[in-house]
Amino acid sequence: KIPVWLDCDTGNDDAFAILLSAFHPRVNLLGISTVHGNAPLAWTTHNTLGILDILHVYNVKVYPGEEAPLVNEARFALDIHGKTGIGGIQLPQSPTNRPVTHPSYLDAMHHAIMQHQDQICLVSTGTSTNIARLITKYPHVVDKIKYISVMGGSFGMGNASPFAEFNFHTDPHASKLVMAKLQDKMILTSLNLSHKIVADEHVRRSIYSELDQSKNSQLRRGFYEILMFYSNKYGCGDGEFKGPPLHDPIAVYSLLPVVDDDFAAYGYKCVKRKLDVVLEGDRMGASVVVNEELELDEDEDGGVIIGQDLDKQKFWKAILDALHAAE
Ligand code: BDR
Ligand code: CA
Repeated sequence: KIPVWLDCDTGNDDAFAILLSAFHPRVNLLGISTVHGNAPLAWTTHNTLGILDILHVYNVKVYPGEEAPLVNEARFALDIHGKTGIGGIQLPQSPTNRPVTHPSYLDAMHHAIMQHQDQICLVSTGTSTNIARLITKYPHVVDKIKYISVMGGSFGMGNASPFAEFNFHTDPHASKLVMAKLQDKMILTSLNLSHKIVADEHVRRSIYSELDQSKNSQLRRGFYEILMFYSNKYGCGDGEFKGPPLHDPIAVYSLLPVVDDDFAAYGYKCVKRKLDVVLEGDRMGASVVVNEELELDEDEDGGVIIGQDLDKQKFWKAILDALHAAE
């Protein structure tokens, strides 16, 4: 199994990243840290604990991380994720899972990385603030991490601005630092990939068949409601999207082709590029390719593995299998 640490800002799509990392047979979820992002930290933490509760997962500790970006003011995405940061579901008000503050998230992550050095993979589905703090406090962890799979960035498009994706836009200083230090180990799920993998009607139906209630558990219904809330926010149906792009679980899933070094098995297509993040102006938070002409040697020159496409049916099957395993 791949030892994984998940760093997330639990909103609607992060919930699916938690589901997949807790129930994919190839993933050993070591711990979760939470970060500001879709909602204030207290809520992203509460939502994370609540999702683990409804999944009946009680052996994964949740460590609250940073409340605000390194430099900029905190900004949330409640317009997309609802006023609690996770619309469509009523999570338990007092989850059985409790947040852990001693040790701090930094010390807990450091401990996990040292215990699983050279094998551990980080998955980041929120702003990069926690990861930036981690590599600042413990710079040696950079050499101990196998991969870091990040949901963030975009090329020629954006969702927080015309040029930038939300996670990078919210804390560009953190994204730039993490990119600078970890790009040779980074797997990136940008909007350009996530927008190709939408939960269309067929996927939504297979998650929750309203025709045959008997087959559907409470849990399945919960995840369906989370998805439908998100779907409505994306105006799915007649507009640009045939369903909501479920960005965050793709970052968990993308570990598999890279760790297995078998892209064909997952239909995974990618390119390798050196990237940077813009800090100021209209393009703040934009991910940019450093020297487009640079021909990187796939094996030697490093650079970010930027996902371009994957086998969608296999991806959705992995989500459905995880739901089934959790039921
Ligand atoms: C990213 O921003 C957040 O709102 C989502 O949870 C996802 O991580 C998509 O741009
Ligand atoms: Ca997220």
